[in-house]
Amino acid sequence: MRRTVQIAFTEYESPDVLSPDDRQLLAAAEQALEKAHAPYSGFRVGAAARLSNGLVVSGANFENAAYPMCLCAERSTLAAAVSQYPEAHITTLAVTAAAQEHPVASPAMPCGACRQVLLEAEQKFGKPIRLVLRGQSGPVWVFERATDLLPLAFGPDMLRSI
Ligand code: THU
Repeated sequence: MRRTVQIAFTEYESPDVLSPDDRQLLAAAEQALEKAHAPYSGFRVGAAARLSNGLVVSGANFENAAYPMCLCAERSTLAAAVSQYPEAHITTLAVTAAAQEHPVASPAMPCGACRQVLLEAEQKFGKPIRLVLRGQSGPVWVFERATDLLPLAFGPDMLRSI
């Protein structure tokens, strides 16, 4: 039997048509990107998380001369949010990126590792994390839950299943 997995998301032609909250969050991610430490790749990523307590926590990628040690913006932001506000959950995460070498005109997609970590966060919160993703220009892609980006994932349930 052949099975298919579909991923649904909404494309907005520009941030102008987003809700004020999402537009503001994307702007916070753009500001966060300015704080990136990306001397090796020249690829700066900014993220901003809106929390259930109304606060916004942001973060950026932080690279290391030992390349595999690089911290992604999404995971830096998640770590900051859950460690500072463990009682809150993330309702929406906006992510954006800018490259030194070329314009980033397509949405900043979280890497596989970040998708895995966001999945765990969603399961811990018991609530979806909306994703609002954009490059320096171009459309905005909105996913209603982070797990939509990681179908057929390995997760906590696998450890309990027989
Ligand atoms: N990066 C992120 O911050 N998030 C992602 O989801 C993908 C990649 C960073 C890591 C590294 O500093 C740079 O982008 C190039 O890979």
